[in-house]
Amino acid sequence: MNPLRHVAIIMDGNGRWGLKFKNSRNAGHKAGLKTVEKIIKVSIKKKIRFLTLYAFSTENWKRPKKEIKYLFNLLENFLLNRLEDLNKQDIKLKIIGKKNFSKKFNKLLNFSERKTSNNTTLQINLALNYGSKFELINAFKQISKKKIVVNEKNFSEFLQTRNIPDPDLLIRTGNTNRLSNFLLWQLAYSEIFFEKKLWPSFTERDYNKIIEKYKKIKRNFGKI
Ligand code: IPE
Ligand code: IPE
Ligand code: MG
Repeated sequence: MNPLRHVAIIMDGNGRWGLKFKNSRNAGHKAGLKTVEKIIKVSIKKKIRFLTLYAFSTENWKRPKKEIKYLFNLLENFLLNRLEDLNKQDIKLKIIGKKNFSKKFNKLLNFSERKTSNNTTLQINLALNYGSKFELINAFKQISKKKIVVNEKNFSEFLQTRNIPDPDLLIRTGNTNRLSNFLLWQLAYSEIFFEKKLWPSFTERDYNKIIEKYKKIKRNFGKI
């Protein structure tokens, strides 16, 4: 049985779900948040140590302003209402991505990270304004200023995921088979599951099924 320390999820399909069932993309984002809560609970139950959730990509700025505003409002309210409880559950929150939001929102993100920084049960890495290419370029830039011999290990330390083991498992919901600029370096040896269901319809049972399948995979890492 493979150990499972780190699960990464591309939570895709909110907009389509919302349009199909509520005639509004934003309603899909709201419903998607419920799935997030569910998956956090199950992850704790399953003793997973790291959960990385793709919430907003560097490319998502190309969406209509109204949708972007709705998404960030949703997240802001989530943090304001749920941070206390996340903290009680011993969850550590870390933002990966470029924190160049409004002063007020940056402050809330920093506060949330600081408040939960000593928690150890589950670390949630929230990928927000995250793009893997940006992260890699940034790493190259930092390295070029230093006189060091780069290798795979020290290169990882220049990424925003430093000190976090690479994902064992990547799940993308929403019936789309691509990575969309997510963790390109870190996913080099992850087991990848593309799920047909849209994120708001993704259940505990679906999650468990994938985990059980993952556990039985023969992970070679180049060996036989
Ligand atoms: C993923 O759902 C959530 C975000 C990108 C914020 P989408 O909003 O991409 O949903 P679809 O793919 O359009 O259905
Ligand atoms: C990926 O979903 C980003 C997030 C889930 C936050 P998208 O819906 O933005 O991906 P593309 O643009 O369809 O590849
Ligand atoms: Mg999408």
